[in-house]
Amino acid sequence: MKRIAIVLGSLAAAVLVMPLLAAQEPKGEAKPDDTSFWMRKKLEYSGRILEGLSKEDYEGIGKAARSMRALTHMERWVRAGMPEYRTQLRNFERANDQLIRHADEEQLDGAALAYVQLTLSCVDCHKVIRAPAPDGAAPKK
Ligand code: HEC
Repeated sequence: MKRIAIVLGSLAAAVLVMPLLAAQEPKGEAKPDDTSFWMRKKLEYSGRILEGLSKEDYEGIGKAARSMRALTHMERWVRAGMPEYRTQLRNFERANDQLIRHADEEQLDGAALAYVQLTLSCVDCHKVIRAPAPDGAAPKK
């Protein structure tokens, strides 16, 4: 009886653990390194900003945008050698700073617009990173 319980217990544990292991397999090119961790955080903060916008919670927007800014300062240091990346990062930071300013001034429309610009800058930077350079050089990564 006890044996059966142990076998069932291990089976249950295996079933529980398996999806966790599968989730750790890197999907496509993205590897779970330090930068991915930051990017995941960015995703989380942009979700919070959207939540703040939806609830007209200026404090929440400002807090998430400030966390986003702190995160990006570290990134600047890590990829300082890539000019194109720096340009994208500047666009991103400009949008993020506008978001903070509009949140502080409690201007919902301005904040919403800055959020759209911020989102576009996420997409733009990822585009730049994936696309091969026009001269046929290897994609910047
Ligand atoms: C200045 C460039 C730049 C900006 C701006 C940028 N990213 Fe990224 N992002 C990257 C790079 C580089 C990668 C791929 C390599 C990596 O994960 O380090 C990436 C990958 C990602 C990934 C995949 C990470 C993973 O775990 O595989 C997510 C999610 C992501 N970014 C979210 C965002 C969001 C959300 C924003 C905007 C709020 C954003 N990024 C803005 C450069 C940028």
